[in-house]
Amino acid sequence: MNIGIVGTGHIGATLVKKLSAAGHSVKVANSRGPETIEADLLQDGAQPVTATEVFEDVDVVILSIPMKVLPEYRELAMGLNDSVVLIDTSNHYPMRDGKLLEDSKDIEAEWVQESLGRPIVKAFNAIGAPALAGDGRPDWATGLIAIPITGDREEDKATTISLINDIGFDAYDAGAITESWRIQPGNPAYCTDLTLDELPQALANANAERAPKLRDIFVEAAYERMTDAAETNPPADWGVQLSRILYAPK
Ligand SMILES: NC(=O)c1ccc[n+]([C@@H]2O[C@H](COP(=O)([O-])OP(=O)(O)OC[C@H]3O[C@@H](n4cnc5c(N)ncnc54)[C@H](OP(=O)(O)O)[C@@H]3O)[C@@H](O)[C@H]2O)c1
Repeated sequence: MNIGIVGTGHIGATLVKKLSAAGHSVKVANSRGPETIEADLLQDGAQPVTATEVFEDVDVVILSIPMKVLPEYRELAMGLNDSVVLIDTSNHYPMRDGKLLEDSKDIEAEWVQESLGRPIVKAFNAIGAPALAGDGRPDWATGLIAIPITGDREEDKATTISLINDIGFDAYDAGAITESWRIQPGNPAYCTDLTLDELPQALANANAERAPKLRDIFVEAAYERMTDAAETNPPADWGVQLSRILYAPK
């Protein structure tokens, strides 16, 4: 498939490397221009381009950038052919992004769709960067990690699921965009690296009241840990273990 990716951060860079290694034709952009994209990302044939070029002649566009900058891509998103699959990996962390939603119970993906003027598939938002960069079977998971997705167009979700399978993960269709709050930060299926067998119960245990509060507690703990002068970055499983404890139902 011809895939365009905007974002070369923790998630975007991994998707560029894995999707091109899986044989897809990948174009990639960041905010600073094609010349700034590291050679490491291009080793399996990905092409560095401008953000505008990402949207040209592609079957799939993946936006892996901060949620607050997504509205900048409205015109390009609305100019895509209807058949193109638009995937968004973003999450809303008000402590980092500022407050984008009027109500903490508003659905993030609905805000994204309204901002972009086009249907999206919400995917890769509920897996942490270390797990996505790994082989899908980290020590802390009980089997192959399943990545949950949501979206309103069945064909778009089928394409997204096949891409997830191509890079070595299971995928789970968690329903329509109206259900996507269940895979937002603070819920049991968010960044807890669950298998296909484990995900349905975790999604059923989602709690829209508690999730924003638990998400913010997680961020406080992560900031404290990362700014502790005696420590380097936490180990790869740290966020998963904390999320499992914090986001579990009462
Ligand atoms: N980190 C995680 O574990 C994780 C997990 C799941 C989902 N997510 C979500 O996925 C998204 C990406 O996360 P990340 O951790 O990969 O972010 P990141 O490491 O902070 O990287 C952000 C990327 O977005 C690019 N960018 C920023 N503004 C841009 C703009 N206006 N136009 C084009 N590119 C722009 C940056 O390019 P420059 O470097 O050129 O500025 C950078 O490549 C976020 O929405 C995040 O919430 C993150």
